[in-house]
Amino acid sequence: MAPIDDSHDARITPASPANVAELLNHAWQHDLAALKPLLRVPGPASVQDPKTGETPLHAAIRACGPAADASASSPDVVAKAAAVVSELFMSGAIWNDVDSNNETPGCVAARLGLEPLYTACMEAGVRAELLFGLLDGYEELESEAAEDEMLNADEEGGGDEAPELTTATAAGEASNGQAKANEEDEEEETNIVESDPDRAFKPPTDPHTVTSRDYLQSSLTYTEDGKLLDSSDNGVMMAWETSIMRASVDSLLTPALPSGKKILNIGFGMGIVDSMFAATSPARHHIIEAHPAVLEHIRTNSDPTCSSKDTSRNFGASWEAKGSEEGAYKVHAGRWQDIVPQLMEAGETYDAVYFDTFGEDYAQLRHFFTEHVPYLLTETGAFGFFNGLGADRKICYDVYTRVAEMHLSDAGLDVEWQELDVDMKRLGEEGKGDWEGVKRRYWTLDKYRLPRCTLMG
Ligand SMILES: C[S@@+](CC[C@H](N)C(=O)[O-])C[C@H]1O[C@@H](n2cnc3c(N)ncnc32)[C@H](O)[C@@H]1O
Repeated sequence: MAPIDDSHDARITPASPANVAELLNHAWQHDLAALKPLLRVPGPASVQDPKTGETPLHAAIRACGPAADASASSPDVVAKAAAVVSELFMSGAIWNDVDSNNETPGCVAARLGLEPLYTACMEAGVRAELLFGLLDGYEELESEAAEDEMLNADEEGGGDEAPELTTATAAGEASNGQAKANEEDEEEETNIVESDPDRAFKPPTDPHTVTSRDYLQSSLTYTEDGKLLDSSDNGVMMAWETSIMRASVDSLLTPALPSGKKILNIGFGMGIVDSMFAATSPARHHIIEAHPAVLEHIRTNSDPTCSSKDTSRNFGASWEAKGSEEGAYKVHAGRWQDIVPQLMEAGETYDAVYFDTFGEDYAQLRHFFTEHVPYLLTETGAFGFFNGLGADRKICYDVYTRVAEMHLSDAGLDVEWQELDVDMKRLGEEGKGDWEGVKRRYWTLDKYRLPRCTLMG
């Protein structure tokens, strides 16, 4: 990839309308006095150069130059930039607009090593996402009719489309793991862009959204080299995540993987995590899986000896029959949204609950840990989830770690994060190494934050 040209002339172009260029130049020069009067009306804080996608935030940050270059980015310059960035955020600047290099302002700050400016963008992202979460909640309570509509959408399989992540769509994904987002939001965003000439920039990347409804109707392939792909070659589950599954099981069943525990796993995928849970000889082991092709794979590939190397082959009828009583070991076929209420009604509780679905957004994960986890866990039980929220971009990952932490706390759950190294040697390049044959590199970070959640004392 060609190095990024951060020069003024490369970023603020002659194609820029005069009003946009004026704002970008004031931001670039950190000229707060000139900028402030222009920000008194809504809109100017989030203008974009139509060619480069530069926003005033990008300009203010980029103008500092690399932190390593002390002459350009002195603490004084960074402090001036920070004042401009703060003013822009107060005036409605968008934290995760991407430019023509597919960078958000926070990405630029991270690349240039401008820590205080990165933190400012991250904190603005947290505020924005918390606010959207709140507004969404208020909308739900608007009227009984609106509530009914939400419920129907949920029953039809569209419940994952709650507009929780509206702002996140600007930077692509900020969802629970692999490619997930929200079609309605996308449409809405396109309309905004089309109707506002100051935001006519078209980002270079397509967010490759996958909805739950489409995913659950898609055909699936289990590949020889350890991948589960949907019909568009999105990676549903991949073998490189095995070390994360291992660490998740170790963290949930601590100390020393005791036997005789009660376990609930949501999302079977390749059966990696379930094989690890099964190896501890639990007292109860319940799996919830919604995709017909995954269920068929479980059924038809069942290995009565339970010794197959393909771990997904060990969970058919013969496995269910090994439980100490009817229903102790069970694959529940259906969406967790439908099955979990039934388990709760039956009074089931678990020592370990793990959640790793596909095609669902953060709103669904939040719904699960707020409405269900506190009632599903035993007093000393632990809850974990695949933490892929916004994992294709460091700033989104940081924002969603913080947002999830706050929402978990609202739900009465303490969370401890364990940081794991991700081996990027085989994951570093789109379409290469483990990503060969996979449509989109949904993981780009060298650290994984593993959550372990417990009920607050
Ligand atoms: C990423 S995979 C899980 C991988 C698994 N942790 C493993 O170790 O192999 C996600 C799984 O969740 C399933 N899934 C997606 N939405 C679901 C839902 N609403 N309810 C239950 N399962 C769902 C998918 O079909 C898929 O099998």
